[in-house]
Amino acid sequence: MSTLTTASTPDTDFEVEIASTGQIFPVPAGQSVLHTLMFEGFDIPFACEEGVCGTCLTGVKSGEVDHRDHYLTHEEQATHTQFMPCCSRARSAKLVLDL
Ligand code: FES
Repeated sequence: MSTLTTASTPDTDFEVEIASTGQIFPVPAGQSVLHTLMFEGFDIPFACEEGVCGTCLTGVKSGEVDHRDHYLTHEEQATHTQFMPCCSRARSAKLVLDL
């Protein structure tokens, strides 16, 4: 028997789109959005990489976030307008980021 938690969803592949440029980057299972963006040259501030500090907070324009942080309230998470790219992922095939 398992218990439901917000972090119970297995990692899957998805894409992130940069709203300002239209660039699309694949995020493979096992790699964070933060690391994907850093690899592509984006300068996203971060500190804990565990979804606790809020430093990496990034806006989301569309898509459904798989929130795995401990920073946003449940009400904030439910809006799917911001997320923590160090730990959170996507439930939709793509997230459009406010970058
Ligand atoms: S780096 Fe701390 S919440 Fe993302």
